[in-house]
Amino acid sequence: MITSETLSALDREDSLGSFREQFELPEGVIYLDGNSLGPLPRRTLTRLIDVTREEWGQSLLWDLAHSAGAMPVDLNGAHADFAVGCGYKYLNGGPGAPAFLFVAARHQDAAHQPLSGWMGHAAPFDFEQCYRPAEGITRHLAGTPAILALVALEEGVDRYLEADAEDLRRKPILMTECFAALVAQECGDHGPTLASPADAGNRGSQVCFRHEEGYAIIQALIARGVVGDFRTPDILRFGLAPLYLRYQDLWSAVTHLRHVMDKREWDNPDFRIKAAVT
Ligand SMILES: Cc1ncc(COP(=O)(O)O)c(C=O)c1O
Repeated sequence: MITSETLSALDREDSLGSFREQFELPEGVIYLDGNSLGPLPRRTLTRLIDVTREEWGQSLLWDLAHSAGAMPVDLNGAHADFAVGCGYKYLNGGPGAPAFLFVAARHQDAAHQPLSGWMGHAAPFDFEQCYRPAEGITRHLAGTPAILALVALEEGVDRYLEADAEDLRRKPILMTECFAALVAQECGDHGPTLASPADAGNRGSQVCFRHEEGYAIIQALIARGVVGDFRTPDILRFGLAPLYLRYQDLWSAVTHLRHVMDKREWDNPDFRIKAAVT
């Protein structure tokens, strides 16, 4: 008879047993699927970062435009070198809100800031002949900051910090699920196809669709008071901000989208004029 002890004895004698330590294993999950969904070796992330550096340059710059405020990102845990992001999306800083920069501590004293200004100077009132950057992250400052825009951003970030972190992740997942399902349900006949990952766990707060008339559709929607984005060549991009959007707003937005498509409202020369910002 095989007992639990028999198996423990086999584990003790298993000459492959020590390899287990080299894998990133989640608590409480036993993978019996031949590893198609299973854990990766612990070294994988570091290797991927190394290979990316070899192929595309020494440092990788992360674009957090659609991550900051939308999903947790552990930059130090992922050994990120540099990251940038904007304050006017899920951080709710309003139009023209200041952007932000992340520089890993190991790069801070060597990284060069091409837009030098007095706030990034080591001693701005010494009036030295040459520019001497401050130590650490301070050197990445430039001129006088836009105080009113920073105040607006601070309000936006404070609202974000007041909210529960789990809710902030759960609601975008549910909202993007609902929105994708509603677009398929109400507008599926008109051919938009999901361009974002099908698994909501792999999306932030954004969901995109493809349609060959994407630009004109977005313009027609904006004329109806539903503001989305277009990205070439054919992407309709919707960012669902969890702090002020209601689920009912998704219904209204999709109803407008259905009208735009049913009535071919996009087929209007005014909606084909390309603007600088799409
Ligand atoms: C992925 C991504 N990166 C960068 C930006 C632009 O950022 P900024 O307006 O701060 O230049 C956007 C704006 O939509 C974006 O979606």
